[in-house]
Amino acid sequence: MYDQAESLRNQLKNNKGQAKTIAFASGKGGVGKSNIALNFAIELQQRRKSVLLFDLDVGMGNIDILLGSKSKYSIMNLFTDFLPIHGIIELGPKNLSYIAGGTNLHELVHLDNERLDYFFSQYSELARIYDYIIFDLGAGITSTTLSFILAADECFMITTPEPTAITDAYSVVKQIVLHDKQFPIHLVVNRCQSKKEGKQSVQRFKKVVATFLETDMLQGSLLPNDRTVTTAVMKQIPYVLLNPQAPISKGLKNIVTEFLDHNNAPNQLKSISFVEKLKQYLGVQRK
Ligand SMILES: Nc1ncnc2c1ncn2[C@@H]1O[C@H](COP(=O)(O)OP(=O)(O)OP(=O)(O)O)[C@@H](O)[C@H]1O
Ligand SMILES: [Mg+2]
Repeated sequence: MYDQAESLRNQLKNNKGQAKTIAFASGKGGVGKSNIALNFAIELQQRRKSVLLFDLDVGMGNIDILLGSKSKYSIMNLFTDFLPIHGIIELGPKNLSYIAGGTNLHELVHLDNERLDYFFSQYSELARIYDYIIFDLGAGITSTTLSFILAADECFMITTPEPTAITDAYSVVKQIVLHDKQFPIHLVVNRCQSKKEGKQSVQRFKKVVATFLETDMLQGSLLPNDRTVTTAVMKQIPYVLLNPQAPISKGLKNIVTEFLDHNNAPNQLKSISFVEKLKQYLGVQRK
C-alpha cells in the first residue's frame, strides 16, 4: 500500500491534464453493468491507458468480488476516516487501479459540506493522474446517480433486450436528456441471443428517443449472451482475461476500439471540470 501511494504521488507530478470520466449506468439491475465496466476498464488498461475504476454502486458495490480480491479499504474510508484518496486505491489485474464500493454508500447524499469538500479536493488530484476514470453506478436513478452521470464526459447505458430493462433504461435516458440534450450516451444492449434481436432493440430505442426526446443517441452496440460471463464471475477473473477469444470478450474489445476511435484526441484542460459540474448538480439537490 505504501509503495503504491508513493508511486501515485510521483505520478501526480506528471500532470496529465484532466482524466476523461465515463459513467456506466442502467435502469434495471442485474443487466451486466459491473462486468462491462470492469472489462472495459481492463481492456483500456491493456491498451496502455491508465484507468481508475470507481465502484459507486449504492450499498452493493462488488467490483472487488468480481476481481476475487478482498479490498482493505473502500470509498467510505475517505469519508469516515478522511484517508487520502491514493491510500484507498487498490491494484487489480493488469495494474488496474480501483476503489471498492462501500456497503453504506447512500450516505454520500447526506454528507456534510466538510466531507464533500474533502472528496472534491481529493478527487481533483486523481483527475490529473489517470487517462480515464470509470464509475460503476447503482441501477436506477437517484439524484446522486444522475448528478454523477451529468458531471461525467459521457455515459454508457446498459440494458438487455427485455422490454422491462429497455423501459427502465429509457426512463434514465429521459432524465439525462431533460437536463442536457447534448449529453453523449452510448447504448449497450447486453445478453443478445442474436445480432438480429440486438439490432432491433437498438433501432427501436433510438427511434423512441428521437421521437419523444428529440435527440440523437451517440451510438449503440451489442454484446452477446455468453456463458463465459458466468464462468468468469464464478472464477472471479474478468472475461477479457479469462477467455479473450470468447464472443463476449470480442464484443467488448470492439466497443473499446470504437470508443478509442472517437476519443483519440489528447486530454485537455476543460473549461468546467468534473468536480465543478458535480458540485453544481449536487448543489441543486442540497438547497
Ligand atoms: N453477456 C452476458 N451473458 C450471460 N450472462 C450475463 C451476461 N452479462 C451478465 N450476465 C449475468 O448477469 C449477472 C449480473 O451481472 P452484473 O453483476 O455485471 O450486473 P449489474 O448490472 O452490475 O447488476 P447490479 O444492478 O446488481 O449491479 C452476471 O453475474 C452473469 O451471471
Ligand atoms: Mg453492479
